Amino acid sequence: MPVSQSAIRLTSHLDHDYLRQALEHDVRSGLASTPKSLPPKWFYDAVGSELFSQITRLPEYYPTRRELAILREHAGDIAGRSGADTLVELGSGTSEKTVLLLDALAGAGTLRAYTPVDVDAVTLGDAARRLTARYPGLDVHAVCADFERHLALLPREGRRMVAFLGGTIGNLDPAAREVFLKELRATLGPGDSFLLGADLVKDTGRLVAAYDDAAGVTAAFNRNVLYVINRELNADFDPDSFEHVALYDLRQNWIEMRLRATRAMRVRIGGLDLSVSFTAGEEMRTEISAKFHPEGLHRELVAAGFTPTRHYTDPTGDFSLILSHT
Ligand code: SAH
Ligand code: AVI
Repeated sequence: MPVSQSAIRLTSHLDHDYLRQALEHDVRSGLASTPKSLPPKWFYDAVGSELFSQITRLPEYYPTRRELAILREHAGDIAGRSGADTLVELGSGTSEKTVLLLDALAGAGTLRAYTPVDVDAVTLGDAARRLTARYPGLDVHAVCADFERHLALLPREGRRMVAFLGGTIGNLDPAAREVFLKELRATLGPGDSFLLGADLVKDTGRLVAAYDDAAGVTAAFNRNVLYVINRELNADFDPDSFEHVALYDLRQNWIEMRLRATRAMRVRIGGLDLSVSFTAGEEMRTEISAKFHPEGLHRELVAAGFTPTRHYTDPTGDFSLILSHT
């Protein structure tokens, strides 16, 4: 239900019961599978979002800086080609890079509305308030939602550009990515556009370093999912007994983050009335982060019904932004 808050509107499709049920389902099925796995969306409570912000500033983590460089160079061109008056951003987080797009749309004289969409209500609300203060008159309608479940419920007013930045598309496995792209395409009409940020295949050493930083911030981000489960489902994971693992799968072209049990353990998840055993050395997958070849991404967009019109990259060729029309 929309709640009026000065110039900000907040809509939530993730009430407490929904979140609880979704987490219960994901933890129950993820811990029952072999190997065990957990979906990455549960990293992002307020602590996880703050850790991700710290990751974006690490020397090893190049994607944010590269995407920023592309936006600095090309946001004006993107805004002009999109003709959008409404920016919808999926997985918007702190919306830090978004100001470059908003400034460009404002410069083009078309900007009217911004709809950030994220699972983390705290970070979403903070970003919405910050942007409302920065752009007086901008209609900010923040939507707390799961972009794998709620695309059809997002606002449809205006001429929209949907931005999905940061390489978050890579956190979906190929089957989920296909569904996501098709569902998104189905929500867009003539004149709407889609701006997709994706990390590109590169030297394995640099990729692994980006997900296994010397300061241990990514390790803390990885373990945060265990703190979330402890708090929300009354579990007794000992996060310090799990090691952070980041490896690059050359066959799949993706980084895999795992948590490795450093000893045999039995974990009680009170909220699920469940006990789960880990053997010493057992690894649980917590995230994939796929890396792309531009042609592959182009093919996936076309297969979903998009017409990619421009590929932008940074001078190092590390990262890519693709603008597609409907
Ligand atoms: N777009 C920002 C943030 C990327 S971090 C950037 O480029 O820096 C990924 C963001 O997506 C987080 O804010 C997280 O809370 C959000 N997120 C992850 N899974 C999600 C899902 N299924 N639905 C909506 N938001 C999600
Ligand atoms: C949000 N997403 C694109 C990040 C990534 O690079 O896959 C999440 C992340 N995981 C570890 N470091 C950053």
